[in-house]
Amino acid sequence: VNGGDSTELTTDDAPKLSAIEGSKRLAAWTAVDRHVKSEHKVIGIGSGSTVPYVVERIVAQGREANKDRVFIPTGFQSKELIVKGNLLLGDVDQYPRIDVTVDGADEVDKDLNCIKGGGACHLREKVLAEAADTFIVVADYRKNSDILGTTYKAGVPIEVAPFAYAKVLQNLHAIGSPSAVLRMAQKKAGPVVSDNGNFIIDAPFPEEDMQDPYTLLTKLKMLTGVVEVGLFCHMAKAAYFGNQDGSITVR
Ligand code: 5RP
Repeated sequence: VNGGDSTELTTDDAPKLSAIEGSKRLAAWTAVDRHVKSEHKVIGIGSGSTVPYVVERIVAQGREANKDRVFIPTGFQSKELIVKGNLLLGDVDQYPRIDVTVDGADEVDKDLNCIKGGGACHLREKVLAEAADTFIVVADYRKNSDILGTTYKAGVPIEVAPFAYAKVLQNLHAIGSPSAVLRMAQKKAGPVVSDNGNFIIDAPFPEEDMQDPYTLLTKLKMLTGVVEVGLFCHMAKAAYFGNQDGSITVR
């Protein structure tokens, strides 16, 4: 276990899952149990493959608990989860103050900085993280590392205005990410387009840059044409990682 405390959560009554899915569920359920409280009425729901377990656990809190709550999605997927869970859907323009947002991550470092945007949702995810009094990250054990870029090798996801992508790429190549690329859809059918109609660039940086993600974030935000950067620095209050042995690492 890499730092933090370790607790056990019984999932005997739940369907058997693969080790990785089981660890995602452990993280999600534990985080919901600890951080989504009856007094929380506006709840942000993140994106990715761990978040369905977050919604599952919130739905399991029951109709009474959820009847006067509103749920804010970070994208198309979480909107579907909210609607299918018979939860009330809202948007961040109606509710710019959120009690708690729970979201996944592509990687989390020892200081709770995260890489996010593997699913191209990081603009909305960052708005909901920032709007929340409490931002909680849930992930499986593979996302837990000391330095960002150790396990998530694709690079820093950067959302860009479509017409500016070539210029931003050129600038990224010049400032230390020579292998930065435009993210393409499967079978290279065309660029990935975010829920906001923008393109995504994946920009790997050397370890010395990733050791100081806040400085890198500041530099990347200065590039004209960049809409948002998938580095979340000083935002998460806690991160929950499900481990293969059924324990949880909490940071
Ligand atoms: C999407 C994200 C996701 O939160 C991130 O990719 C985590 O995904 P998963 O829970 O599938 O590991 O940042 O933009």
